[in-house]
Amino acid sequence: MAKNRGYQKLVKEHYHKEAQAHGVHATSTMADKVTRLREIDNIISYLKNGDRCLEVGCGNGAGSVAIARAKAVKMTCIDFSEDLLALAQKQPTKGMRGTVEFKHQDVLTLDDKKRYDVVFTERCIINLMEWQDQKDALARMAAALKAGGRMVLVESFTDGLAELNAARSDLGLPAIDPAYHNLHLDKEKTIKHLAAEGLVLQEENNFLSTYTFGSRVVYPAIARAAGKDIRYNSAFGNFFALLPNAGNYSQLKILVFRKK
Ligand SMILES: C[S@@+](CC[C@H](N)C(=O)[O-])C[C@H]1O[C@@H](n2cnc3c(N)ncnc32)[C@H](O)[C@@H]1O
Repeated sequence: MAKNRGYQKLVKEHYHKEAQAHGVHATSTMADKVTRLREIDNIISYLKNGDRCLEVGCGNGAGSVAIARAKAVKMTCIDFSEDLLALAQKQPTKGMRGTVEFKHQDVLTLDDKKRYDVVFTERCIINLMEWQDQKDALARMAAALKAGGRMVLVESFTDGLAELNAARSDLGLPAIDPAYHNLHLDKEKTIKHLAAEGLVLQEENNFLSTYTFGSRVVYPAIARAAGKDIRYNSAFGNFFALLPNAGNYSQLKILVFRKK
């Protein structure tokens, strides 16, 4: 019998509102433009032409189509939100080098075996608000990979948020809490769990560290001192996207694993 996961109602309601507010646009689920562009560019960097890919939690599909425009990959893109999936089916697909197939599927019932070269997520596993469910989803995704295949997790982790909040605290800024519909992953527990599923960590990519430090620590401290409102996508904050990456100051990071 299917488990009753109360939090899934809350998560689906969140994405119902997101679907209404943003439609097919790339602003859906991510208001910060630098973050969105960096996520897509980094995912693309882990794919090669001809790869068969599974995207878990594709949302409205704007990112999926952008990826298939850049690389000739065969993508199966799944999501459990009926609202977002209906939008994904309407995405303009002109100019794609690869293919995208959008499917309604809860990752917690995913049953594909050894089918994909790459399985990736963009902030989906954090929507599973119990560690037991996160573990189950990760194990199902691991099983869906071919031997030698790669798992690319673009997810939020507790360690990066702790370092960010320590820096904010030094300047008297309040801590940033995870969004109400997210449970951040514990990096060490995630690595250990996936090791038991036959996956070896290849890379930790703190691709947003410098930008997040600049836009979520330096910028708000200066804006506050100057009596200005703090907002997303400020010209001041965008400067930090031009600097080389350093440190572990972002909750959002990429872990890359290879299946033995
Ligand atoms: C933060 S959004 C990101 C969506 C898309 N990747 C993007 O970047 O816009 C997370 C997505 O995961 C989906 N999701 C959450 N729980 C899921 C589940 N159990 N099975 C499949 N998809 C799920 C949500 O519906 C949502 O579209």
